[in-house]
Amino acid sequence: MPIFEIDPDIRKAETLPADFYTDPAFFEISKEKIFARAWHFLGRADEIETLKPATILPGLLDEPVLIVKTSEWLSCLSNVCTHRGKILVEEPCQASLIRCRYHGRRFLLDGRCISMPEFEDVDGFPAESDNLAKLPFAVRAGFMFAGLDPVDAFRVFVDDAAERLASVETAGLRLTATRTYEVNAHWALYCENYLEGFHIPYVHHGLNEVVDYGSYTTETFRYSSIQTGFDEKGEVAARYLFVFPNMMFNFYPWGISVNVVRPIGPSKTEVDFLTYVRDESLLDVGAGADLHTVELEDEAVVESVQQGIRSRFYTHGRYSPTREQGTHHFHRLIAEFME
Ligand code: FES
Ligand SMILES: [Fe+2]
Repeated sequence: MPIFEIDPDIRKAETLPADFYTDPAFFEISKEKIFARAWHFLGRADEIETLKPATILPGLLDEPVLIVKTSEWLSCLSNVCTHRGKILVEEPCQASLIRCRYHGRRFLLDGRCISMPEFEDVDGFPAESDNLAKLPFAVRAGFMFAGLDPVDAFRVFVDDAAERLASVETAGLRLTATRTYEVNAHWALYCENYLEGFHIPYVHHGLNEVVDYGSYTTETFRYSSIQTGFDEKGEVAARYLFVFPNMMFNFYPWGISVNVVRPIGPSKTEVDFLTYVRDESLLDVGAGADLHTVELEDEAVVESVQQGIRSRFYTHGRYSPTREQGTHHFHRLIAEFME
């Protein structure tokens, strides 16, 4: 029996029950069932020298990894020494070997353990288990992604949507700002608000001036969705790509704003905003102009929902078949992963 069932027919479907957001047990289960089986954002490949330590999903999975770049390849290894568990590389650096600073175990850049002082008498050393684990890893449009145990290959997660975004120029993007927002709400409430433009006229008065509500569209794919907002001339004002469960790529005339949603607790979420600019002269134009104001408006409404779903009079809702396809699709994926 699946834990949650969301009818594939949006006209008949009911939204996720309030328990999913309020019961701490479901928060715990979603860590392994959803986040450990998905892909995670690791920034731009051109930001790396040879070795760059990183953390997969800080605050929830907290997995220490090491991105390795050579002239021939790029990969992602465990950043934990296979001897007694020290973090191997603490700062980005250039190196031709990885050497643990605790007792001197040495690894090649491909993760193979090659030597260790005082281990001459150890039976069968080094063995396969002394090598650093290699994580599933992918690079797309210059952005890097890794997973712990993803249910599907990265291309299955994004390729059907990526075809729609083939015309987007990703060369020359520069990370110009990073900022983390703290939201007092469940991570899925934050995501499902992002996944519909239904609320724009009610919540975002400024944004509503530049996005034509009538022509707003949502397309759903296997693990992702794209929302497109047009301006009054019928030109694309913004495109919003969501990759399940927590990555948002917002395409504006000036470049890409990447949002990574990080669950911290059942009613606490952090959202990293990474601003990748291609054309600074367009920063103050249209739907990509005042993202901070839009974010605060979204946070206020999402935090209000967090209060509301605790009510004993709220169990679940229904969907608008014309305006909430993205949210319905997201809930279906949650139900699928939580099985
Ligand atoms: S923990 Fe790395 S060598 Fe001992
Ligand atoms: Fe919004």
